[in-house]
Amino acid sequence: MKVLEIKGNKELSGTIRISGAKNSAVALIPAAILSDEQVTIYNVPNITDIDALSEILEYLGSAVTREQETIKIDPSHIKNRTISEEHSTKLRASYYFLGALLSKYKKAEMYFPGGCSIGARPINLHLKGFEALGAKVTANKNCYRIEAQELKGARIYLDIASVGATINIMLAATKAQGKTVIDNAAKEPEIVNVATFLNNMGAKISGAGTSTITIIGVEKLHGCFHEVIPDRIEAGTYILAGALCGNRLRIENIIPKHLEALTSKLKDMHVPFEIGTDYIVVSKQKTYQPTKIKTLIYPGFPTDLQQPFTVLMTQANGKSTVEETIWENRFMHVPYLNKMGSKIKVKDEIATIYGPTPLTGKKVKATDLRAGAAMVLAGLLAKGTTTIENVDHILRGYENIVNKLQNVGANIELKEI
Ligand code: EPU
Repeated sequence: MKVLEIKGNKELSGTIRISGAKNSAVALIPAAILSDEQVTIYNVPNITDIDALSEILEYLGSAVTREQETIKIDPSHIKNRTISEEHSTKLRASYYFLGALLSKYKKAEMYFPGGCSIGARPINLHLKGFEALGAKVTANKNCYRIEAQELKGARIYLDIASVGATINIMLAATKAQGKTVIDNAAKEPEIVNVATFLNNMGAKISGAGTSTITIIGVEKLHGCFHEVIPDRIEAGTYILAGALCGNRLRIENIIPKHLEALTSKLKDMHVPFEIGTDYIVVSKQKTYQPTKIKTLIYPGFPTDLQQPFTVLMTQANGKSTVEETIWENRFMHVPYLNKMGSKIKVKDEIATIYGPTPLTGKKVKATDLRAGAAMVLAGLLAKGTTTIENVDHILRGYENIVNKLQNVGANIELKEI
Protein backbone atom coordinates (compact mmCIF):
# COMPACT_ATOMS: atom_id res chain seq x y z
CA MET A 1 0.00 0.00 0.00
CA LYS A 2 1.21 3.50 -0.92
CA VAL A 3 1.15 6.13 1.84
CA LEU A 4 2.27 9.73 2.15
CA GLU A 5 4.38 10.31 5.22
CA ILE A 6 4.80 13.88 6.41
CA LYS A 7 7.01 15.04 9.27
CA GLY A 8 5.30 18.34 9.91
CA ASN A 9 5.90 21.76 11.40
CA LYS A 10 8.59 22.77 8.87
CA GLU A 11 8.80 26.24 7.38
CA LEU A 12 8.04 26.41 3.65
CA SER A 13 9.86 28.92 1.45
CA GLY A 14 10.87 29.10 -2.20
CA THR A 15 8.69 28.74 -5.28
CA ILE A 16 5.98 26.31 -6.36
CA ARG A 17 4.96 26.41 -10.02
CA ILE A 18 1.32 25.61 -10.72
CA SER A 19 0.46 23.01 -13.36
CA GLY A 20 -2.35 22.96 -15.92
CA ALA A 21 -5.90 22.70 -14.60
CA LYS A 22 -7.11 19.15 -14.06
CA ASN A 23 -10.76 20.01 -14.58
CA SER A 24 -9.98 21.74 -17.85
CA ALA A 25 -7.57 19.10 -19.21
CA VAL A 26 -9.98 16.23 -18.43
CA ALA A 27 -12.52 17.85 -20.77
CA LEU A 28 -10.04 18.95 -23.47
CA ILE A 29 -8.77 15.42 -24.03
CA PRO A 30 -12.18 13.85 -24.85
CA ALA A 31 -13.02 17.02 -26.84
CA ALA A 32 -9.98 16.39 -29.06
CA ILE A 33 -11.69 13.44 -30.77
CA LEU A 34 -14.02 15.92 -32.51
CA SER A 35 -11.12 17.00 -34.72
CA ASP A 36 -10.34 15.20 -37.98
CA GLU A 37 -6.66 16.05 -37.59
CA GLN A 38 -3.96 16.05 -34.92
CA VAL A 39 -4.30 18.51 -32.04
CA THR A 40 -1.53 19.59 -29.68
CA ILE A 41 -2.34 20.62 -26.12
CA TYR A 42 0.28 22.29 -23.89
CA ASN A 43 0.48 22.50 -20.11
CA VAL A 44 -1.35 19.20 -19.52
CA PRO A 45 -0.82 18.12 -15.88
CA ASN A 46 0.96 14.84 -15.29
CA ILE A 47 -1.68 13.19 -13.11
CA THR A 48 -3.32 9.78 -13.16
CA ASP A 49 -6.67 11.14 -14.41
CA ILE A 50 -4.88 12.17 -17.62
CA ASP A 51 -3.32 8.68 -17.89
CA ALA A 52 -6.80 7.17 -17.62
CA LEU A 53 -8.20 9.42 -20.38
CA SER A 54 -5.20 8.76 -22.64
CA GLU A 55 -5.90 5.03 -22.25
CA ILE A 56 -9.48 5.58 -23.41
CA LEU A 57 -8.22 7.54 -26.44
CA GLU A 58 -5.87 4.69 -27.34
CA TYR A 59 -8.63 2.13 -26.81
CA LEU A 60 -10.72 4.08 -29.35
CA GLY A 61 -7.80 3.91 -31.80
CA SER A 62 -6.37 7.41 -31.44
CA ALA A 63 -2.62 8.00 -31.57
CA VAL A 64 -1.47 9.71 -28.37
CA THR A 65 2.01 11.01 -27.61
CA ARG A 66 2.95 12.70 -24.37
CA GLU A 67 6.19 14.51 -23.81
CA GLN A 68 6.49 16.35 -20.54
CA GLU A 69 3.44 18.63 -20.41
CA THR A 70 2.52 18.40 -24.10
CA ILE A 71 0.06 15.90 -25.49
CA LYS A 72 -0.48 15.26 -29.20
CA ILE A 73 -3.70 13.52 -30.10
CA ASP A 74 -4.34 12.27 -33.62
CA PRO A 75 -7.92 11.04 -33.74
CA SER A 76 -8.05 10.53 -37.52
CA HIS A 77 -8.26 6.73 -37.19
CA ILE A 78 -10.54 6.35 -34.19
CA LYS A 79 -13.48 3.96 -34.15
CA ASN A 80 -16.65 4.34 -32.15
CA ARG A 81 -16.55 1.55 -29.54
CA THR A 82 -18.38 0.98 -26.27
CA ILE A 83 -16.19 2.42 -23.52
CA SER A 84 -15.73 -0.44 -21.07
CA GLU A 85 -16.49 -0.34 -17.37
CA GLU A 86 -12.79 -0.79 -16.62
CA HIS A 87 -12.09 2.48 -18.44
CA SER A 88 -15.18 4.50 -17.53
CA THR A 89 -15.05 3.96 -13.77
CA LYS A 90 -11.46 5.20 -13.35
CA LEU A 91 -12.65 8.81 -13.20
CA ARG A 92 -15.66 11.09 -13.37
CA ALA A 93 -14.63 12.94 -16.50
CA SER A 94 -14.90 9.83 -18.67
CA TYR A 95 -18.46 11.14 -19.16
CA TYR A 96 -17.16 13.77 -21.59
CA PHE A 97 -16.69 10.96 -24.12
CA LEU A 98 -20.52 10.68 -24.18
CA GLY A 99 -20.92 14.22 -25.56
CA ALA A 100 -17.88 13.99 -27.84
CA LEU A 101 -18.77 10.59 -29.38
CA LEU A 102 -22.42 11.60 -29.77
CA SER A 103 -21.35 14.77 -31.59
CA LYS A 104 -18.96 12.91 -33.90
CA TYR A 105 -20.86 9.66 -34.58
CA LYS A 106 -24.45 10.37 -33.43
CA LYS A 107 -23.98 7.42 -31.11
CA ALA A 108 -22.17 6.87 -27.80
CA GLU A 109 -22.02 3.87 -25.51
CA MET A 110 -20.25 3.95 -22.18
CA TYR A 111 -20.50 2.32 -18.78
CA PHE A 112 -21.29 4.60 -15.85
CA PRO A 113 -18.45 6.97 -14.85
CA GLY A 114 -16.47 6.79 -11.57
CA GLY A 115 -14.92 9.58 -9.47
CA CYS A 116 -14.82 10.74 -5.85
CA SER A 117 -17.75 9.73 -3.58
CA ILE A 118 -18.66 13.27 -2.60
CA GLY A 119 -22.37 12.99 -3.34
CA ALA A 120 -24.91 11.20 -5.54
CA ARG A 121 -23.47 12.90 -8.66
CA PRO A 122 -26.37 12.31 -11.10
CA ILE A 123 -25.88 13.21 -14.78
CA ASN A 124 -29.56 13.79 -15.55
CA LEU A 125 -28.85 17.32 -16.86
CA HIS A 126 -26.25 16.04 -19.34
CA LEU A 127 -28.76 13.45 -20.58
CA LYS A 128 -31.60 15.98 -20.72
CA GLY A 129 -29.39 18.16 -22.91
CA PHE A 130 -28.59 15.28 -25.27
CA GLU A 131 -32.31 14.48 -25.52
CA ALA A 132 -33.14 18.11 -26.30
CA LEU A 133 -30.72 17.85 -29.23
CA GLY A 134 -32.68 14.85 -30.53
CA ALA A 135 -30.89 11.86 -28.97
CA LYS A 136 -32.52 8.85 -27.36
CA VAL A 137 -30.93 7.85 -24.06
CA THR A 138 -31.18 4.40 -22.50
CA ALA A 139 -29.36 2.98 -19.49
CA ASN A 140 -29.05 -0.76 -19.17
CA LYS A 141 -26.89 -2.74 -16.73
CA ASN A 142 -24.73 0.29 -15.80
CA CYS A 143 -24.23 1.22 -19.46
CA TYR A 144 -25.53 4.32 -21.25
CA ARG A 145 -26.53 4.13 -24.91
CA ILE A 146 -27.16 7.49 -26.54
CA GLU A 147 -28.17 7.65 -30.15
CA ALA A 148 -29.63 10.14 -32.61
CA GLN A 149 -30.74 10.02 -36.23
CA GLU A 150 -29.80 13.66 -36.38
CA LEU A 151 -28.67 16.19 -33.79
CA LYS A 152 -30.52 19.46 -34.08
CA GLY A 153 -29.76 22.67 -32.18
CA ALA A 154 -32.14 23.51 -29.31
CA ARG A 155 -32.61 25.94 -26.42
CA ILE A 156 -31.61 24.16 -23.19
CA TYR A 157 -32.15 25.52 -19.70
CA LEU A 158 -30.07 23.91 -16.95
CA ASP A 159 -31.88 23.70 -13.57
CA ILE A 160 -28.43 23.78 -11.94
CA ALA A 161 -25.44 25.56 -13.49
CA SER A 162 -23.55 22.26 -13.78
CA VAL A 163 -19.95 22.32 -15.00
CA GLY A 164 -20.13 18.83 -16.48
CA ALA A 165 -23.53 19.30 -18.16
CA THR A 166 -22.49 22.65 -19.68
CA ILE A 167 -19.34 21.14 -21.21
CA ASN A 168 -21.01 17.91 -22.35
CA ILE A 169 -23.86 19.78 -24.07
CA MET A 170 -21.34 22.15 -25.68
CA LEU A 171 -19.49 19.10 -27.04
CA ALA A 172 -22.67 17.45 -28.36
CA ALA A 173 -23.94 20.69 -29.94
CA THR A 174 -20.65 21.54 -31.67
CA LYS A 175 -21.51 19.34 -34.67
CA ALA A 176 -25.32 19.51 -34.38
CA GLN A 177 -27.33 21.23 -37.11
CA GLY A 178 -28.21 24.84 -36.36
CA LYS A 179 -28.13 26.86 -33.19
CA THR A 180 -28.04 25.63 -29.57
CA VAL A 181 -28.42 27.98 -26.64
CA ILE A 182 -27.54 26.86 -23.10
CA ASP A 183 -29.25 29.02 -20.47
CA ASN A 184 -28.07 29.05 -16.85
CA ALA A 185 -24.77 27.64 -18.09
CA ALA A 186 -21.88 27.22 -15.63
CA LYS A 187 -19.32 30.06 -15.82
CA GLU A 188 -16.17 28.38 -14.49
CA PRO A 189 -12.86 29.35 -16.18
CA GLU A 190 -12.48 25.71 -17.28
CA ILE A 191 -15.59 26.12 -19.45
CA VAL A 192 -14.06 29.12 -21.20
CA ASN A 193 -10.87 27.11 -21.76
CA VAL A 194 -12.82 24.23 -23.37
CA ALA A 195 -14.90 26.60 -25.55
CA THR A 196 -11.71 28.32 -26.73
CA PHE A 197 -10.22 24.93 -27.64
CA LEU A 198 -13.33 23.95 -29.62
CA ASN A 199 -13.29 27.34 -31.39
CA ASN A 200 -9.58 26.86 -32.18
CA MET A 201 -10.66 23.62 -33.92
CA GLY A 202 -13.30 25.50 -35.95
CA ALA A 203 -16.38 25.40 -33.70
CA LYS A 204 -18.62 28.47 -33.37
CA ILE A 205 -19.23 29.02 -29.68
CA SER A 206 -19.89 32.38 -28.03
CA GLY A 207 -20.78 33.47 -24.52
CA ALA A 208 -18.63 30.96 -22.59
CA GLY A 209 -17.93 32.46 -19.16
CA THR A 210 -21.45 33.96 -19.02
CA SER A 211 -24.68 32.17 -18.16
CA THR A 212 -25.82 32.01 -21.81
CA ILE A 213 -23.70 30.04 -24.28
CA THR A 214 -24.58 29.91 -27.98
CA ILE A 215 -23.26 27.19 -30.26
CA ILE A 216 -23.73 27.22 -34.02
CA GLY A 217 -23.12 23.69 -35.30
CA VAL A 218 -20.34 23.07 -37.81
CA GLU A 219 -19.66 20.03 -40.01
CA LYS A 220 -15.95 19.59 -39.56
CA LEU A 221 -13.31 20.40 -36.99
CA HIS A 222 -9.58 20.67 -37.70
CA GLY A 223 -6.26 20.43 -35.85
CA CYS A 224 -5.00 23.20 -33.58
CA PHE A 225 -2.61 24.16 -30.79
CA HIS A 226 -4.04 24.95 -27.39
CA GLU A 227 -2.90 25.61 -23.84
CA VAL A 228 -4.50 24.46 -20.56
CA ILE A 229 -5.10 27.29 -18.05
CA PRO A 230 -3.33 27.09 -14.65
CA ASP A 231 -5.07 24.98 -12.01
CA ARG A 232 -6.82 27.39 -9.62
CA ILE A 233 -7.53 24.60 -7.12
CA GLU A 234 -3.94 23.35 -7.04
CA ALA A 235 -2.87 27.01 -6.64
CA GLY A 236 -5.38 27.52 -3.81
CA THR A 237 -4.10 24.43 -2.03
CA TYR A 238 -0.49 25.65 -2.05
CA ILE A 239 -1.53 29.19 -1.12
CA LEU A 240 -3.16 27.65 1.97
CA ALA A 241 0.07 25.73 2.65
CA GLY A 242 1.76 29.15 2.63
CA ALA A 243 -0.78 30.60 5.07
CA LEU A 244 -0.16 27.62 7.40
CA CYS A 245 3.62 27.17 7.15
CA GLY A 246 5.02 29.71 4.67
CA ASN A 247 7.87 32.13 4.99
CA ARG A 248 7.37 34.12 1.78
CA LEU A 249 6.24 31.02 -0.12
CA ARG A 250 5.82 32.02 -3.77
CA ILE A 251 3.18 30.33 -5.91
CA GLU A 252 3.63 31.16 -9.57
CA ASN A 253 1.86 30.61 -12.87
CA ILE A 254 -1.52 31.59 -11.47
CA ILE A 255 -4.38 33.74 -12.79
CA PRO A 256 -5.19 35.93 -9.74
CA LYS A 257 -8.71 36.71 -11.03
CA HIS A 258 -9.59 32.99 -10.81
CA LEU A 259 -8.62 33.01 -7.12
CA GLU A 260 -10.50 36.09 -5.94
CA ALA A 261 -13.01 34.19 -3.79
CA LEU A 262 -10.10 32.65 -1.89
CA THR A 263 -7.89 35.74 -1.63
CA SER A 264 -10.78 37.86 -0.36
CA LYS A 265 -11.29 35.36 2.50
CA LEU A 266 -7.54 35.32 3.22
CA LYS A 267 -7.71 39.11 3.53
CA ASP A 268 -10.61 38.80 6.01
CA MET A 269 -8.54 36.37 8.07
CA HIS A 270 -5.50 38.71 7.98
CA VAL A 271 -3.25 36.29 6.08
CA PRO A 272 -0.24 38.30 4.81
CA PHE A 273 0.16 38.01 1.03
CA GLU A 274 1.24 40.00 -2.01
CA ILE A 275 -0.16 39.40 -5.48
CA GLY A 276 1.60 40.09 -8.79
CA THR A 277 0.39 39.55 -12.35
CA ASP A 278 0.91 35.78 -12.24
CA TYR A 279 2.15 34.99 -8.75
CA ILE A 280 1.34 35.33 -5.07
CA VAL A 281 3.71 35.35 -2.08
CA VAL A 282 2.18 34.08 1.18
CA SER A 283 3.50 33.89 4.73
CA LYS A 284 2.30 32.32 7.93
CA GLN A 285 1.04 34.49 10.77
CA LYS A 286 0.70 33.65 14.48
CA THR A 287 -3.05 34.26 14.76
CA TYR A 288 -5.88 34.54 12.27
CA GLN A 289 -9.37 36.05 12.36
CA PRO A 290 -12.19 33.50 12.12
CA THR A 291 -14.41 33.66 9.03
CA LYS A 292 -17.38 32.09 7.23
CA ILE A 293 -17.47 30.48 3.81
CA LYS A 294 -20.31 29.16 1.71
CA THR A 295 -19.45 27.10 -1.35
CA LEU A 296 -21.03 28.41 -4.54
CA ILE A 297 -20.71 28.11 -8.27
CA TYR A 298 -18.02 30.31 -9.87
CA PRO A 299 -17.19 33.11 -9.09
CA GLY A 300 -18.28 32.11 -5.55
CA PHE A 301 -16.07 30.19 -3.14
CA PRO A 302 -15.13 26.88 -4.87
CA THR A 303 -16.29 23.66 -3.23
CA ASP A 304 -12.98 22.10 -4.28
CA LEU A 305 -11.12 24.40 -1.86
CA GLN A 306 -13.55 24.03 1.02
CA GLN A 307 -11.81 21.02 2.59
CA PRO A 308 -8.27 22.49 2.36
CA PHE A 309 -9.60 25.83 3.69
CA THR A 310 -11.04 24.13 6.79
CA VAL A 311 -7.48 23.34 7.87
CA LEU A 312 -6.64 27.06 7.94
CA MET A 313 -9.81 27.72 9.94
CA THR A 314 -8.56 25.38 12.68
CA GLN A 315 -5.86 28.03 13.30
CA ALA A 316 -8.25 31.01 13.57
CA ASN A 317 -8.94 32.61 16.90
CA GLY A 318 -12.64 31.79 17.46
CA LYS A 319 -15.56 30.18 15.63
CA SER A 320 -15.54 29.76 11.83
CA THR A 321 -18.16 28.07 9.64
CA VAL A 322 -18.22 26.28 6.31
CA GLU A 323 -21.49 25.78 4.48
CA GLU A 324 -21.30 23.26 1.65
CA THR A 325 -24.02 23.79 -0.96
CA ILE A 326 -22.71 21.81 -3.95
CA TRP A 327 -21.97 18.27 -2.69
CA GLU A 328 -23.87 16.38 0.02
CA ASN A 329 -20.90 14.36 1.22
CA ARG A 330 -17.93 16.67 1.43
CA PHE A 331 -17.09 16.61 5.12
CA MET A 332 -15.35 13.24 5.23
CA HIS A 333 -12.06 14.94 6.13
CA VAL A 334 -13.52 16.22 9.40
CA PRO A 335 -13.21 13.05 11.56
CA TYR A 336 -9.54 12.80 10.54
CA LEU A 337 -8.85 16.46 11.32
CA ASN A 338 -10.52 15.97 14.70
CA LYS A 339 -8.32 12.91 15.26
CA MET A 340 -5.34 15.26 14.74
CA GLY A 341 -6.66 17.71 17.34
CA SER A 342 -9.13 20.08 15.68
CA LYS A 343 -12.55 20.84 17.16
CA ILE A 344 -15.04 20.65 14.32
CA LYS A 345 -18.73 19.82 14.51
CA VAL A 346 -20.81 19.02 11.45
CA LYS A 347 -24.56 19.46 11.41
CA ASP A 348 -26.55 19.21 8.20
CA GLU A 349 -24.35 20.85 5.58
CA ILE A 350 -22.54 23.20 7.96
CA ALA A 351 -19.23 22.58 9.70
CA THR A 352 -18.38 24.74 12.72
CA ILE A 353 -14.69 25.03 13.49
CA TYR A 354 -13.57 26.15 16.95
CA GLY A 355 -9.99 27.46 16.86
CA PRO A 356 -7.19 27.78 17.39
CA THR A 357 -6.19 24.16 17.99
CA PRO A 358 -2.68 22.71 17.60
CA LEU A 359 -2.58 19.63 15.33
CA THR A 360 -0.59 16.45 15.97
CA GLY A 361 0.48 13.91 13.35
CA LYS A 362 -1.69 10.77 13.14
CA LYS A 363 -2.60 7.97 10.74
CA VAL A 364 -5.37 9.35 8.48
CA LYS A 365 -7.08 8.62 5.15
CA ALA A 366 -7.61 10.58 1.96
CA THR A 367 -11.30 9.75 1.49
CA ASP A 368 -11.45 11.77 -1.75
CA LEU A 369 -9.15 14.05 -3.73
CA ARG A 370 -9.67 17.34 -1.89
CA ALA A 371 -10.07 15.66 1.50
CA GLY A 372 -6.63 14.23 0.71
CA ALA A 373 -5.32 17.74 0.01
CA ALA A 374 -6.70 18.81 3.39
CA MET A 375 -4.83 15.92 5.04
CA VAL A 376 -1.57 17.00 3.36
CA LEU A 377 -2.03 20.56 4.66
CA ALA A 378 -2.85 19.31 8.15
CA GLY A 379 0.22 17.06 8.03
CA LEU A 380 2.48 19.96 6.96
CA LEU A 381 1.31 21.98 9.95
CA ALA A 382 1.09 19.24 12.59
CA LYS A 383 3.79 18.36 15.09
CA GLY A 384 5.02 14.79 14.56
CA THR A 385 4.37 12.34 11.74
CA THR A 386 1.20 12.14 9.67
CA THR A 387 0.66 9.03 7.55
CA ILE A 388 -1.97 9.39 4.83
CA GLU A 389 -3.56 6.27 3.34
CA ASN A 390 -5.53 6.04 0.06
CA VAL A 391 -3.11 8.41 -1.62
CA ASP A 392 -4.26 7.39 -5.10
CA HIS A 393 -7.05 9.94 -4.70
CA ILE A 394 -4.44 12.69 -4.26
CA LEU A 395 -2.26 11.55 -7.17
CA ARG A 396 -5.31 11.70 -9.46
CA GLY A 397 -5.34 15.47 -9.18
CA TYR A 398 -2.04 16.96 -7.94
CA GLU A 399 0.96 16.80 -10.28
CA ASN A 400 4.20 15.92 -8.59
CA ILE A 401 2.92 16.95 -5.15
CA VAL A 402 5.78 15.29 -3.28
CA ASN A 403 8.57 17.01 -5.23
CA LYS A 404 6.80 20.35 -5.30
CA LEU A 405 6.52 20.34 -1.50
CA GLN A 406 10.00 18.85 -0.88
CA ASN A 407 11.51 21.64 -3.00
CA VAL A 408 10.13 24.30 -0.64
CA GLY A 409 11.29 22.56 2.53
CA ALA A 410 8.57 20.04 3.45
CA ASN A 411 9.53 16.66 4.84
CA ILE A 412 7.13 14.53 2.78
CA GLU A 413 7.66 11.14 1.19
CA LEU A 414 5.61 8.71 -0.86
CA LYS A 415 6.26 5.29 0.65
CA GLU A 416 5.25 1.73 -0.13
CA ILE A 417 4.40 -0.08 3.11
N1 EPU B 1 -25.91 17.89 -10.75
C1 EPU B 1 -27.14 17.32 -10.98
N2 EPU B 1 -27.37 16.77 -12.20
C2 EPU B 1 -26.47 16.77 -13.20
C3 EPU B 1 -25.21 17.36 -12.96
C4 EPU B 1 -24.96 17.91 -11.72
O1 EPU B 1 -28.01 17.29 -10.10
O2 EPU B 1 -26.74 16.26 -14.29
C5 EPU B 1 -25.62 18.49 -9.44
C6 EPU B 1 -24.51 17.74 -8.70
O3 EPU B 1 -25.01 16.64 -7.99
C7 EPU B 1 -23.93 18.84 -7.81
C8 EPU B 1 -24.11 20.10 -8.66
O4 EPU B 1 -25.10 19.78 -9.64
O5 EPU B 1 -24.72 18.94 -6.66
C9 EPU B 1 -22.88 20.61 -9.35
O6 EPU B 1 -22.30 19.57 -10.11
P1 EPU B 1 -21.41 19.83 -11.42
O7 EPU B 1 -22.04 19.09 -12.54
O8 EPU B 1 -21.14 21.27 -11.58
O9 EPU B 1 -20.08 19.06 -11.02
P2 EPU B 1 -19.20 18.13 -11.94
O10 EPU B 1 -19.16 18.67 -13.31
O11 EPU B 1 -19.55 16.70 -11.74
C10 EPU B 1 -16.99 19.50 -11.58
C11 EPU B 1 -15.62 19.18 -11.07
C12 EPU B 1 -15.68 18.97 -9.58
C13 EPU B 1 -16.23 20.21 -8.89
C14 EPU B 1 -17.60 20.57 -9.50
C15 EPU B 1 -18.17 21.87 -8.98
C16 EPU B 1 -14.70 17.99 -12.97
C17 EPU B 1 -14.22 16.72 -13.55
N3 EPU B 1 -15.15 17.95 -11.73
O12 EPU B 1 -17.79 18.36 -11.26
O13 EPU B 1 -14.34 18.78 -9.16
O14 EPU B 1 -16.39 19.99 -7.52
O15 EPU B 1 -17.49 20.68 -10.95
O16 EPU B 1 -17.29 22.92 -9.22
O17 EPU B 1 -14.62 19.04 -13.60
C18 EPU B 1 -12.57 17.96 -7.86
O18 EPU B 1 -11.79 18.42 -8.68
O19 EPU B 1 -12.20 17.53 -6.73
C19 EPU B 1 -14.00 17.91 -8.17
C20 EPU B 1 -14.85 17.12 -7.54
